[in-house]
Amino acid sequence: MDAKTNQKTATLTADGKSAQFPVKSGTIGPDVIDISKLYAQTGMFTYDPGFTSTGSCESKITYIDGDEGVLLYRGYPIEQLAEKGDFLETCYLLLYGELPTDAQKKDFDYRVTHHTMVHEQMARFFQAFRRDAHPMAIMVASVGALAAFYHDSTDINDPHQRMVASMRMIAKVPTLAAMAYKYTVGQPFVYPKNALGFAENFLQMCFAVPCEEFKINPVMAEALDKIFILHADHEQNASTSTVRIAGSSGANPFACIAAGIACLWGPAHGGANEAALAMLAEIGTVDKIPEFIEKVKDKNSNVRLMGFGHRVYKNYDPRAKIMQQMCHKVLKETGHQNDPLLEVALELEKIALHDPYFVERKLYPNVDFYSGITLKAMGFPTSMFTVLFAVARTVGWISQWSEMIEDPQQKIGRPRQLYTGATRRDYMPLSSRK
Ligand code: CMC
Repeated sequence: MDAKTNQKTATLTADGKSAQFPVKSGTIGPDVIDISKLYAQTGMFTYDPGFTSTGSCESKITYIDGDEGVLLYRGYPIEQLAEKGDFLETCYLLLYGELPTDAQKKDFDYRVTHHTMVHEQMARFFQAFRRDAHPMAIMVASVGALAAFYHDSTDINDPHQRMVASMRMIAKVPTLAAMAYKYTVGQPFVYPKNALGFAENFLQMCFAVPCEEFKINPVMAEALDKIFILHADHEQNASTSTVRIAGSSGANPFACIAAGIACLWGPAHGGANEAALAMLAEIGTVDKIPEFIEKVKDKNSNVRLMGFGHRVYKNYDPRAKIMQQMCHKVLKETGHQNDPLLEVALELEKIALHDPYFVERKLYPNVDFYSGITLKAMGFPTSMFTVLFAVARTVGWISQWSEMIEDPQQKIGRPRQLYTGATRRDYMPLSSRK
């Protein structure tokens, strides 16, 4: 504690020299040591690959207590939002900080709904992709390309343009996602319908065809809405940090969200539900589980139990519990309750929760463990799983991006390094190199 300012401090001693740093407290969660003056005071940097102990910003949006398995959006537990709210209400909450009043909700729903169409030239942009293109490749490109269609909302210094860009992305990313799906299955694009809810509209844009009436199954719409709520934000994860870093240079919001989508694509992040489903299919039957678990434990095998473990949660991922319930509901509705993949998943979960390898490392099922089976039962191909994650996370990325732009302390993100390469040496002409 600094006696003069009454502020908590931390003292670092290195090479016989001591330096003091302020300690900052949030509303909940661990304190942080503000080391922004570390280099100036000591001539040293910190070293933290993967940022496991590094806070990169102040944020009021999402809080996770990984040890207790808690996830709050703007203070509200994820369980309550998933049980009682809907996705657009969650979007409003993440963007504006408070739950909407009835009038605010109606206005917000109207604004999102009336931004869902994309410029008709976008359809021609799609024609440039091979017909077997991965829909995530189309998403990275088409969301980035929105900047070329909506010049009137790329000035990041104008709050009105930022708001318009935010609404456009929340509304148009689902349309692009459904178009990416339709393109890869060779069906005509289906326009959004303003009379439908957010999840309903997405289902009809994905699964309706012009030759017959499409009936929306309310269980599927409810499940999808909940999946969107569960994936809407998750604090400073890899893709959100990517969006913030991209935005810190002043890049336009469409480009920043495209960067987030690119990062999300990786199997250690958004691609995990696809990988989890592939793993369940590879195991195939319950009797093969012990053999698979042995492979996972073998350090030379490089095999991981996909859908298990999390950088932050060292307890049951609260989203996984809700996802597990939704999974059973959807499988019952679609008549897949005896799906062998579900049987493998349930048994795998049971074994892993008791096996000392997983218990000691605090490896619990994460949200992706059940979302893959659920989405498959709903009719989505595995290549669309990460796309659905991107549809849901767009609002989180946008909220975090806006918060960053409005933060007076915001600076371009520029980490330092520990250089271990060659020291200075002189250029040798090609003729004298051996
Ligand atoms: N299966 C087997 N062992 C694991 C697993 C796993 N899924 N995850 C971690 N471990 C082991 C790891 O080998 C290490 O063991 P040891 O201490 O003996 O070397 C220990 O647990 C710690 O692992 P780590 O790699 O240091 O942990 P991390 O925080 O860097 O990794 C993770 C987090 C999510 C990348 C990792 O758990 C993983 O690869 N899980 C599988 C992929 C997955 O399901 N990802 C989705 C994450 S949730 C969606 C999201 O929010 O994006």
